[in-house]
Amino acid sequence: MAKVKTTFFCQNCGTQFAKWQGQCSACKQWNTIVEEVIQKPEKSDWKTPTQSASKRVSKPLKIKDIDSSQEARLDTFDTEFNRVLGGGIVPGSLTLLGGEPGIGKSTLLLQISLKLPYKVLYVSGEESQKQIKMRAERINANNDTCYILTETKTQNIFKQIESVEPDIVIIDSIQTLHSDFIESSSGSISQVKECTTELIKFAKETATPVLLIGHITKDGHIAGPKILEHMVDTVLQFEGDRNHVFRILRAHKNRFGSTNELGIYEMQGSGLREVSNPSELLISKKDAELSGNAVAATLEGVRPLMIEVQALVSTAVYGTPQRSATGFNAKRLNMLLAVLEKRAGFRLGAKDVFLNITGGITVDDPAIDLAVVAAILSSNENEALQSDICFAGEVGLSGEIRPVQRVEQRILEAEKLGFTTIFVSKYNKISLKNTVIKINLVSKIEDLIRFIA
Ligand code: TYD
Ligand code: MG
Repeated sequence: MAKVKTTFFCQNCGTQFAKWQGQCSACKQWNTIVEEVIQKPEKSDWKTPTQSASKRVSKPLKIKDIDSSQEARLDTFDTEFNRVLGGGIVPGSLTLLGGEPGIGKSTLLLQISLKLPYKVLYVSGEESQKQIKMRAERINANNDTCYILTETKTQNIFKQIESVEPDIVIIDSIQTLHSDFIESSSGSISQVKECTTELIKFAKETATPVLLIGHITKDGHIAGPKILEHMVDTVLQFEGDRNHVFRILRAHKNRFGSTNELGIYEMQGSGLREVSNPSELLISKKDAELSGNAVAATLEGVRPLMIEVQALVSTAVYGTPQRSATGFNAKRLNMLLAVLEKRAGFRLGAKDVFLNITGGITVDDPAIDLAVVAAILSSNENEALQSDICFAGEVGLSGEIRPVQRVEQRILEAEKLGFTTIFVSKYNKISLKNTVIKINLVSKIEDLIRFIA
């Protein structure tokens, strides 16, 4: 037996250390370093189905000689899933699907497996074959090319793959797998890394796509080393909408397509339904148009997010007017009020102003300014804005509307979500073609007032 070797890993960022320390010197987190036993057997008695193929030595090729013809993608027969992937599954690719527990990851992938006319091997380490069958009955789909395997040992999985020869492999979930090559427990950083490496090797060598389900941690990252996200080709996130019926699928990383697309589903008693007309989403949220509400097209990291801003402007009953902001910087609110007072002549100095970002989110993106101003004006005038307009712009001290970054992505997101008009800065360069959404360019606060008053 090989000598027992241990190393230390940071559970937060996956950095490896030779000895224990209290703080990770890479990500500066405390108490995240754990010891893990690594034990590689000296001689392997096990081979991946393609180990002989891996003896093949890759040769350098001139770039002009490389065949760049698009590889045929596998259609998933799910328009939303195809869209997010950029047109289907690329042969030999690894896709990681992350999301909170109970959001519907297993349901989504089982549903897709049952729709596929190819041979699919669905490996579950979390549920028994009976449980999966019950789920399939709920989804009400039947199919004779989908194989269910309950197994957690990668070596056994590869053995079954050899006999079934599937066109697609689905693993639910990567954190339940373990490999004989490593002795630490399932879900530990070294196990997750090793199992993923084995699966990547299998996928690349046989051109079989592999879909992995991954758990996420409390703060929304995929559990396990960050390196997992680097290793796979595509990272998808399955998120719940605020009203808990809608599910949004986004690409976080995509080596074969854009990360701007999103897929929308509705969780029903009989599985997930594709929502092809996203304005259903908006209509379901709004019964009546209320004054003081405005929608901002913001970005969270690189992900576009439509956020509702609510403002209440009322006559101050005490000498000093109250200003309060939830989810938004109070100083910035005061600045915007001063701009409205000075540049647009609104007498807000004697008014209480309350601002709330719905959904309990805190927004730092300056592009929300325009929606904040619109919500305040709407509440002040007691006039509701149309529910299908949204805003993306930063407001400067002289009342000018400043451009925001990645405006095109925001416009596309707004269009995808069913908005018909978006207000953006005149100074933003927009080269979008074929958009249905109306883009209103504004250069100063007065322009906005003219449009919405
Ligand atoms: P699941 O796919 O098990 O979530 P995950 O794998 O992400 O943990 O989803 C389970 C939830 O979905 C559960 O709360 C029940 C609900 N559900 C439905 O509402 N309808 C259905 O048809 C199915 C199969 C599940
Ligand atoms: Mg599950």
